[in-house]
Amino acid sequence: MLNSIGLQNPGVDYVIEHYLPKLKKYDTAIIVNAIGNTIEDYVEVCRRLNDTDIDGVELNLSCPNVHSGCMAFGVTYEGVKEVTSAVRKVLDKPLIVKLSPNVTDITVTARAAEDAGADGISLINAFTAMVIDIEKRRPVLGNNTGGLSGPGIRPIAVRMTYDVAKTVKIPVLGIGGIVTGSDAIEFMLAGATAVSIGAGNFYSPDTSIKVIKEIEDYLGKHDIDDINSIIGTVKMN
Ligand SMILES: Cc1cc2nc3c(=O)[nH]c(=O)nc-3n(C[C@H](O)[C@H](O)[C@H](O)COP(=O)(O)O)c2cc1C
Repeated sequence: MLNSIGLQNPGVDYVIEHYLPKLKKYDTAIIVNAIGNTIEDYVEVCRRLNDTDIDGVELNLSCPNVHSGCMAFGVTYEGVKEVTSAVRKVLDKPLIVKLSPNVTDITVTARAAEDAGADGISLINAFTAMVIDIEKRRPVLGNNTGGLSGPGIRPIAVRMTYDVAKTVKIPVLGIGGIVTGSDAIEFMLAGATAVSIGAGNFYSPDTSIKVIKEIEDYLGKHDIDDINSIIGTVKMN
């Protein structure tokens, strides 16, 4: 999937007032994905979220579809460290930093997040990509480029998860092309403590439920009682 939907949303106050009460009805953890154009934006959004009963914040330092902020912070050690440190000062809740794959070495930005006090790292966001209409000789997307996600990026995401999990001590949340239980297991063997699903929800809104069922099938088939026992256990050739 190649998307450039941007980050339209009604704003943090509206989310707190109208979305959270509805989400609280579900028996699950609520982690809010937060964005900003400036460091002050990130800090202010997280300051307000800190006063709610959400379970944690995932800082999006990696959206490839916006012209300022976001990925601009997420591609250098200094940028990630600066935003994460600033947010850390106002947020007492668990803080996950979501990293961009549009870098030469993702372990550098992962270390920045850890050094700045993040509690976890999630990776990866989408790859900056372009498709050209050869008749019009123009990019297909109005924004020219978009974020590439879905099963095609999974092997890269698994490799990056492996690299980052070996580099940092904090937990890693794996993302990228997960549509089946075996996809999720791959990330966990590579070192992910948890996984997340993006494009898969567009194939089918119940992808997460199917993935959980298939993870359980795998654990049963291999007589594994505790899923934590498989984290990071890939045996390299
Ligand atoms: C339509 C769409 C919207 C997305 N919006 C966000 C977002 O608001 N914040 C964010 O951190 N990532 C966002 N992502 C990125 C996904 O969470 C995920 O990191 C990426 O797409 C790779 O995973 P996937 O292959 O499972 O989609 C979005 C992805 C898609 C496809």
